[in-house]
Amino acid sequence: MNSPLLLPILCYPDPRLHTVARPVKSVDDRIRQLIPQMLATMYEAHGIGLAATQVDVHERLIVIDVSETRDQPMVLINPVIEWASPETRKGEEGCLSVPGVYDGVERSLAVRVRALDGEGVQRTIEAEGMLAVCIQHEMDHLMGKVFVEYLSPLKRTRIKSKMVKAQREAMKE
Ligand code: NI
Repeated sequence: MNSPLLLPILCYPDPRLHTVARPVKSVDDRIRQLIPQMLATMYEAHGIGLAATQVDVHERLIVIDVSETRDQPMVLINPVIEWASPETRKGEEGCLSVPGVYDGVERSLAVRVRALDGEGVQRTIEAEGMLAVCIQHEMDHLMGKVFVEYLSPLKRTRIKSKMVKAQREAMKE
């Protein structure tokens, strides 16, 4: 954490990750400052998406970049899923709030989402593949849901103790 732009990311099972985010009231200076901070935090952590919930800001804002080149940032403010394909697929997911854990989650193959962009302009995004999965994963965060909650209670318990142990070890260092 050597850049002042970087924000600490909450780690599962931090109870704050279960906060339901409020809509962003207006895309003002505060939000315009937060966006580059969230993007820098996501890039630094080598993530493809980050929800405001994960940096302890409980407003409906997510940043995403699924490009190989890491230069196609997307900002979704107050996102609403207008349509989700009935066809689903189980794919492996990870999360910056659950480092080192990857597991299968069933998601719609494609979604159409309405959201404001970083300038406060209304956009409609048609997404499929990795982008569609990422949008659904990040929008879950805004509802206080972490992907491990789709897994079996047994797996979740194991992940929880693994995370608590890892956090305890990190604190010792
Ligand atoms: Ni996540």
